[in-house]
Amino acid sequence: MARSALLNVMVQAATKAGRALIRDFGEVEQLQVSMKGPADFVSAADHRAEKILREELQRVRPTYGLLMEESGVIEGSDPAHRWIVDPLDGTTNFLHAIPMFAVSIGLERDGEIVAGVVFNPVMNELFTAERGAGAYLNDRRLRIAQRRDLSQAVIATGVPHQGRGHHPTYLKELAAIMADAAGIRRMGAAALDLAWVAAGRFDGFFETGLNPWDVAAGMLIVREAGGYVSDYSGHGDPLNAGSIIAGNPDIHREVQRRIAAR
Ligand code: IPD
Ligand code: CA
Ligand code: CA
Repeated sequence: MARSALLNVMVQAATKAGRALIRDFGEVEQLQVSMKGPADFVSAADHRAEKILREELQRVRPTYGLLMEESGVIEGSDPAHRWIVDPLDGTTNFLHAIPMFAVSIGLERDGEIVAGVVFNPVMNELFTAERGAGAYLNDRRLRIAQRRDLSQAVIATGVPHQGRGHHPTYLKELAAIMADAAGIRRMGAAALDLAWVAAGRFDGFFETGLNPWDVAAGMLIVREAGGYVSDYSGHGDPLNAGSIIAGNPDIHREVQRRIAAR
């Protein structure tokens, strides 16, 4: 597979930040059993990864703006381009020494996501996509799962928790889907949920309360693998909508219909 120069920049930044996260994850596993717990350390690891990403991306494209989870908006002199970055997606997993987390970088050009990288450093899985050029896991081209029936589908979701989301509404949505699905998964990293939909491991994914940095890269990876992505209305752009449904067209339609009917 041939990667563009821009995608190479993103891959380099993501793998560098991912290596730093792996080192810190080893420490978290130790701290896990201490009285104080690893919370402060994890927050420092998150910021360290973000700093690496910011420096790498700004070094190569100094004019581009950034939207980063921890630093917020960093204006660039080029109004057309913006990196959308989550340095550590799956923080709760990381904090609990659960090895399921990722670095996510999307590149926005004139309001459209044109390149995306999601890197899971523990599994050494690098998901990449460029608009019009397909999606890849490492060097393998990705194709979305072709299961058309919910009864055969494994659906990923994000479960709201203390202080997040509207729990009664979510329970209705979940009930409407789990009644007929083959399985439901809650992995704890939205960027990976989307990447795994692209890889055909999950047949669909739905979640609300997400931010642009959670979905920017993953939504392009799903689309480039032949999948369909929208907000809960079924036709809106999920980047800023806060809600997302992903899957092949059949599974997407079925999940959307059930969420709308709840
Ligand atoms: C979170 C993860 C999680 C999702 C949360 C996100 P973070 O991101 O993607 O799966 O359910 O809504 O906030 O905080 O770990 O970067
Ligand atoms: Ca996130
Ligand atoms: Ca994060």
